[in-house]
Amino acid sequence: MGVRFTGWGIGIPERVVTNDELSLTLDTSDAWISERTGIRERRIGGTTRSLGAEAAKNAIADAGLTPADIDFILLATTSPDRMAPATAAMIQADIGATCPAMDLNAACSGFMYGVRTAQGLIETGTRRVLLVGAERLSGWVDWTDRNTAVLFGDGGGACVMEYSDDVNDILSFSLGCDGTAADILACNHAETFTMDGREVFRRAVRAVVESSEQALERAGVKASELSLLIPHQANIRIIQAVAERLGIDMDRAVISLDRYGNTSSSSIPLAFDVARKEGRIKPGELALLTGFGAGMTWASSIIRWS
Ligand code: ACO
Repeated sequence: MGVRFTGWGIGIPERVVTNDELSLTLDTSDAWISERTGIRERRIGGTTRSLGAEAAKNAIADAGLTPADIDFILLATTSPDRMAPATAAMIQADIGATCPAMDLNAACSGFMYGVRTAQGLIETGTRRVLLVGAERLSGWVDWTDRNTAVLFGDGGGACVMEYSDDVNDILSFSLGCDGTAADILACNHAETFTMDGREVFRRAVRAVVESSEQALERAGVKASELSLLIPHQANIRIIQAVAERLGIDMDRAVISLDRYGNTSSSSIPLAFDVARKEGRIKPGELALLTGFGAGMTWASSIIRWS
């Protein structure tokens, strides 16, 4: 038995905020932001609920299903709309599903932690899981702090994962967490994100490389066999450093941060959408999906698209 990805979808705000627009109110510039991060613009608006529900509806339609076919909804989010109830419950109501629904928070690794959780649910009898990553990070950013305000964006992405008798898309996983590094990137209740950017950068490269190598080894796959690297989209220089250390050319890496910024739990499905629109998702080919985030958490997986 195995797990298949059968549908993907996104939900993004219409409003585009360019680096030039941020430079009107912050002591920054398009040149600094694009050179140091690779981000050119981001989307701002909506709620975690609205962005997640839109992505969810698109993923369900893409899978050729209806909401009634979904057996479990998992929402990975760092920015739930309320403490309670879980935003997943609101998404369940909005799309007209009736199945169990819950949130999970592993920061920017959330989507990959969600894939692992969905895999476990499917292996223990749940037939179809809707996994959503959705964030309204703009509500948790100090818009006067140039160190963080330029990095984040809002958006949602989702996938449907289904039980299969004969196909398995997920070849391996490597997940981790180091809670002793919790304070390098954090957001307290009713406050905004604070970050030691250099320390996050340093640890992110190491964690992503090590977990990717472990996922490759567990799958019995060499980096040279990968068609795609779909990384969490925080900073182009982190992606370049990871790709170089793993021996993966940058033309195999999927980049979406230029248009969306860092959307935390949504960034991997948003990058998947970019890859698919560019015609880069090909059946039978191998991809490395890898993320890192506050916690610190990290998660890597080798996927073979069926
Ligand atoms: N515009 C202009 N100048 C800036 C800006 C800005 N937006 N931000 C910082 N600077 C300045 C700094 O003040 C500093 O000036 P100084 O030399 O006079 O002190 C100078 O630029 C260099 O600052 P650094 O912090 O050294 O810049 P760096 O090259 O490290 O880039 C950045 C900063 C982009 C934050 C980088 O460290 C990074 O991407 N880190 C990882 C962040 C990350 O991945 N966060 C998300 C994690 S995922 C999650 O869970 C949400």
